[in-house]
Amino acid sequence: MDKFIVRGGTPLKGKIRVSGSKNSALPILAATLLTPEPCVIHRVPDLSDVRYMLDILRHLGASVDYTDGTVRVCAAKVHSEAPYDLVRKMRASICVLGPLVARCGKATVSLPGGCVIGDRPIDIHLRGLQGLGAEVETNEGNVIVNAEKGLTGAEIYLGGKFGSTVLGTDNVMMAATAARGTTVIESAACEPEVKDLADFLVKMGAKIEGHGGSRVTIHGVPGLHGAEHTVIPDRIEAGTFIIAGLITGGDLTLEQINNDHLENVLGHLTAAGAFFERGVDTLRVTAGEGLKPLNLVTEVYPGFPTDMQAQFSALLTVVPGLSAITEKIFPARTMHLSELKRMGANIDLEGSTSIIRGVPHLSAAPVMASDLRASAALVIAGLAARGATEVNRVYHIDRGYEHIDQKLRNVGANIERVKEA
Ligand code: EPZ
Repeated sequence: MDKFIVRGGTPLKGKIRVSGSKNSALPILAATLLTPEPCVIHRVPDLSDVRYMLDILRHLGASVDYTDGTVRVCAAKVHSEAPYDLVRKMRASICVLGPLVARCGKATVSLPGGCVIGDRPIDIHLRGLQGLGAEVETNEGNVIVNAEKGLTGAEIYLGGKFGSTVLGTDNVMMAATAARGTTVIESAACEPEVKDLADFLVKMGAKIEGHGGSRVTIHGVPGLHGAEHTVIPDRIEAGTFIIAGLITGGDLTLEQINNDHLENVLGHLTAAGAFFERGVDTLRVTAGEGLKPLNLVTEVYPGFPTDMQAQFSALLTVVPGLSAITEKIFPARTMHLSELKRMGANIDLEGSTSIIRGVPHLSAAPVMASDLRASAALVIAGLAARGATEVNRVYHIDRGYEHIDQKLRNVGANIERVKEA
């Protein structure tokens, strides 16, 4: 397993081109199962999660070529069983469920296990598919969905105790494109990645209104055709680099981003004293005269994103004063905190709220990555810490950040990837 050695203290300066969004590319790749015609998807980031999804599409019968960020895929014929040994590698694989039910009238997909950020239930996904007339059963770790009599449009409520569900909205929206009649999804997820998927489905011939909002209407159509699409920029990768620039007191310009997707993150950081210069698809960030503490609560979009919680936690460990972050989407998303404390951070966890007292500096230590965003938080901390921080198990970070070490080296970071047998 590879590890990073990060030697802190260098202000990051220069330009970073942000990649296409992982959380947009994955459901869009799944959506290509909805048509027997070829699809072309551009700006697909080279990540292990993407390669797992391409393997699943191939297993299901699609022909797939992935070259220079572009995926050419044709699911001329597909079967409907996604096997455990592929699905277990990535929980997001569950987003093939909706397309398979729509295309094949049935689907068997391994239930996603839990993960370090907590339980990953799919009860709302299944409630939505049942609302469209599918029969659902679970058996031997698989979920089996049957709609051989077809799907029927309906009013579907997708809210849960943690708010809406991103991939649940994706699954129901994709299934509804093939339903007889009209489906209205209430409490749909509003994340930009959900809207990007809907934009792709519309290019495929789907009839969708209100996507990007919490009430989405889908008029079923007999079938979808192939389409070409470019994935939106990855707002979480962008946010991660913004935090890296701030914690090192640097001066970074991010390129090919969509500032509109970062409003909440930029708002909080501006309140803390960061300076931003926005371009059409660029953003320059400088730390100014030091940052002020923050009190944050994660929420569904457009609120403060849970996928930025760990990165903000790392930043706030060295911001003078008392900060607090409450995690309301994945309350168990706290693995990074104990690792940050090994680096000298002063953090008390009270329920799902971390109370962070800024310290003058962090100190290097060997730390363990545990999930995608926690890993990014540890790299960020290492960029500011005194000494050489060893971040182990960086396969977690390779799941969601395209060539992150190279991108950071290009702006002056002292980060080395050590390959281990
Ligand atoms: C997506 O996961 C993202 N993954 C996650 O990003 C992100 O953290 C999450 O949305 C929230 O924004 C992808 O898009 C591939 P949810 P998803 O369903 O769709 C509960 C990353 O770091 N829930 O919106 O799986 C659930 O337990 C990853 O890139 C139910 O209770 O998340 C959670 O508490 C991590 N029942 C909350 O809702 C359900 O049926 C939000 O989950 C579904 C979800």
